[in-house]
Amino acid sequence: MLKDRYGNAASTKSEAAVARYNEALDLIRVYRGDPIAALDAALEEDPEFGGAWAARAGLLVTATDKAYGEETAKSLRAGAAANLNERDSALLKGAQDWAEGRYADGTARFARVAQENPRDVLALQYAHVGCFFLGLQSELRDWPLQAMRAFKSSEDGYSYILGMAAFGLEECGDYARADIYGRQAVEIDPRDGWAVHAVAHVNEMRGDLDTGIPWLADSAHQWAPDSGFAYHNWWHLGLLYLDRGDIAEVLKLFDEKVRPNPDQQVLMEWLDASAMLWRLKLEGVDTGDRFATLAVCWERAGEDAFYAFNDLHAIMAFLGAGRMADAERTLKAMRQAAADGGDNGYMTRKVGLPLAEAFVAFEAGRYGECVEKIASVRGIAQRFGGSHAQRDVLSLTALHAALRGGFAQTAEAFAAERLAHKPQSPWAGRLARQARELRVKEHAA
Ligand SMILES: [Fe+2]
Repeated sequence: MLKDRYGNAASTKSEAAVARYNEALDLIRVYRGDPIAALDAALEEDPEFGGAWAARAGLLVTATDKAYGEETAKSLRAGAAANLNERDSALLKGAQDWAEGRYADGTARFARVAQENPRDVLALQYAHVGCFFLGLQSELRDWPLQAMRAFKSSEDGYSYILGMAAFGLEECGDYARADIYGRQAVEIDPRDGWAVHAVAHVNEMRGDLDTGIPWLADSAHQWAPDSGFAYHNWWHLGLLYLDRGDIAEVLKLFDEKVRPNPDQQVLMEWLDASAMLWRLKLEGVDTGDRFATLAVCWERAGEDAFYAFNDLHAIMAFLGAGRMADAERTLKAMRQAAADGGDNGYMTRKVGLPLAEAFVAFEAGRYGECVEKIASVRGIAQRFGGSHAQRDVLSLTALHAALRGGFAQTAEAFAAERLAHKPQSPWAGRLARQARELRVKEHAA
């Protein structure tokens, strides 16, 4: 029986297909190159290789982009008719759950495969990504920790589990261990952009610019080339420069690294672009025509109501571009989604929609409403996914709404919280000063 690079049974008798599949596994774990092309090469060698179809379906569904629906359906159909072992079959079912909007069920299936087959790094990665989109913070940490039992530290695969564990530890607030695990993983494979990212999050959460900027900037030659994830690590570097107040560097990174091709049809890039431009807008920075260019990209997904986290970022782009009618169209689609059952319905109802309304209120100058709506859901906002660093845009928007609306105590409260978490952060210091000045001004009036 042929086995994949981690020692899991492969559902093919073609050695050439397994070789191509193993290449795909390498690309997937480091978010490099074109893993779909590598899987297609494996399937060219053996079109009945069910494991390759399951991997393909899993990769497509976890991109959270409705545009991949047809390719996903093709993979699911072909996979169901191919040779499947028990593990492949469960993975394929997990992808099917995702494709049909049962994100939690799909993620749980991926995780069960990883639990039962702790050397299945691919299943673990799909579960990990699923946890990220669902905001399952403990599981982000614990499923990789469970899988570590099956690997010696010298074995192929171990470092990627370390990298996943590092990110989970960070999201659970265990920054010290996250930093150690992430750095160990990067030492073993410096191409591992996910492990680099875990440490970048540690630095972001600590507001540690002096460690965070060189951590990303000095290692980029190793994690950035040919990476499908590099834009997000560049986004993190941009956040640190924004914290420092170096707007020129933020815009340079945005133009050259986060959005090097403004027409690029990669939804996850649009998320980071929206998130960065919105932060700049809050800070009063003139971002030129960048919002307008980005809003054109979001047009095709603005009414997808596929994943609430994405919808909020579409709203940010539309509002920033002054396209109120498009923001309203997305809001309408979200209101319809909120009435649905299913996981996105829940995420939209509980988190996405109130936040979208809050951001629209901000743009309309209804700052009190904005603060109230964000404050009412901020404590459960992880339920619509993303990381603490990404969801920080909620706290920032609430704080800026309080500043603009003249709610001095509210602004000071948000600013104090920020400074307590990030005592080294110049940005936190600037916001705290602005809030204090507002209170002093109010007191004098
Ligand atoms: Fe991140």
